[in-house]
Amino acid sequence: MKKFFIAPSILSADFSRLGEDVQKALSAGGDIVHFDVMDNHYVPNLTIGPMVLKSLKDYKITAPIDVHLMVKPVDNLIPIFAKSGADCITIHPETTDHVDKTLTLIKNSGCKVGLGFNPSTSLSILDYTMDKIDIILLMGVNPGFSGQSFIPKMLDKLREIRIRIDKFFPNILLEVDGGIKLSNISDIASAGADIFVVGSAIFSSKNYFKIIQNMKSKLYSI
Ligand code: DX5
Ligand code: ZN
Repeated sequence: MKKFFIAPSILSADFSRLGEDVQKALSAGGDIVHFDVMDNHYVPNLTIGPMVLKSLKDYKITAPIDVHLMVKPVDNLIPIFAKSGADCITIHPETTDHVDKTLTLIKNSGCKVGLGFNPSTSLSILDYTMDKIDIILLMGVNPGFSGQSFIPKMLDKLREIRIRIDKFFPNILLEVDGGIKLSNISDIASAGADIFVVGSAIFSSKNYFKIIQNMKSKLYSI
């Protein structure tokens, strides 16, 4: 049976007690920690950096941490995040002049390699990058903030990426980020996603266990 992964996005967590809140989401069934880094330049918001990542590692968060870099320029930060404990680093093609080189930099830093697509980013960049990628991330919203609504047209784009993965590199995992709720997770799974980044739907809920288990039962019944 296909495996699905829920990745709580800590952008919506309680930063005054981050370690505890992240651990709570993992104990409730979260599989991967999604760590959103924003620079108020590539995206209109400013969030967290490598020191916070290291603090989570020191707090003994053992789940894999996927660092989603929404920063421009991006290259200089890659070795720093790798050293601070990133397991996977995802970048956006618009944040580097040399995508191939940046993907190699991530791989050489010992992390899994993710490439992210905004709602309007062309998929043509996949033509010459798929052999270097472990994860393709498709944004369901324009990056910058949690709590936005999923853009329905992204279901078509998701199906298109799924076709490319199945045809050429079936080991690549397909991750969707932004606007995932209990009400649309089945449609997103049916369109081909493997990893579901969920921010506000988990952290604004009173019962993390209940929301994550409800999402998983929807996933395993499609
Ligand atoms: C958006 C971030 C997302 C965000 C998801 O730019 O990359 O990871 O936190 O949050 P929700 O699930 O609330 O859309
Ligand atoms: Zn993200």
